[in-house]
Amino acid sequence: MPRDNYAEGFGYQWNQHRLTQLDSHSGRPISRNRLMNQSGWTFAELRGKKVLECGSGAGRFTEVLCESGAEVTSVDISSAVHANAASNGHFPNLRLVQASIYELPFPADSFDFLFCCGVIQHTPDVERTFKTLLRYLRPGGRFCIDVYAAPIAYPHPRQLLRPITKRVPPAKLYAFVEKAVPVLLPLSLKLSAVPLVGPCLARLVPVANHRHLGLTDTETALRWSVLDTFDWLSPRYEKPQTRRRLSRWAGELALREVSIERHRGLYVIRGMR
Ligand SMILES: C[S@@+](CC[C@H](N)C(=O)[O-])C[C@H]1O[C@@H](n2cnc3c(N)ncnc32)[C@H](O)[C@@H]1O
Repeated sequence: MPRDNYAEGFGYQWNQHRLTQLDSHSGRPISRNRLMNQSGWTFAELRGKKVLECGSGAGRFTEVLCESGAEVTSVDISSAVHANAASNGHFPNLRLVQASIYELPFPADSFDFLFCCGVIQHTPDVERTFKTLLRYLRPGGRFCIDVYAAPIAYPHPRQLLRPITKRVPPAKLYAFVEKAVPVLLPLSLKLSAVPLVGPCLARLVPVANHRHLGLTDTETALRWSVLDTFDWLSPRYEKPQTRRRLSRWAGELALREVSIERHRGLYVIRGMR
């Protein structure tokens, strides 16, 4: 991939935060639980199967997939693959590739499972991305893809900042976020603790708040917040989707056993090809 592809900010982010969200680093099964809850898959069914993970970032889910004993092929367009290699390169069942979803160097119909979380809203053409991904799954294979839910993501105050912040060079924006988060996060945490309306109040402050994860140690909470606040503000593309649109795409591809569930600010679509 050319160094200046549209995902340069992701490469920067994941090399700054190579370990932050890895369960082996946090000592808690946060990524494992999310992968299992969203996909509904079990380690027993993944073992020995060919799994394609697209947009793997620093590899928080790559680690879990490798631990399941699956034959994992993990792809990212950005230099995040170097962070993933440093953390997960020791797994003999991992093949790591820097490539775009639009130009994957694999034959169609060649994977048993497809996992793509946190990615498609950040691509230039979300419908094309969704439909391209499904091509690589064999008929009868299972997929799990998530995307920002339009009704939750559009009314967020970060949308007022993004027209500016997405144009700022990654290192400069990161330095700004690192200064802003220690000021804004305590306020956001206080607001989110207000009974009943807390989560709505906290949304007024444009800082990522992981109160729901119960990160007790302040340093860890700050690291996660810097990472995800940068992740909100820096991407060139952020294109949240409606449930209706996902459902239409699934129908056009004749996907089977499809479910679309809302998990916090995301729609998770899963099923079988
Ligand atoms: C928000 S990160 C999510 C990373 C990881 N899935 C996670 O949840 O931690 C989105 C990732 O998608 C990658 N990405 C964006 N467009 C892509 C494309 N066309 N092909 C492959 N990866 C892409 C970015 O480089 C980035 O690492």
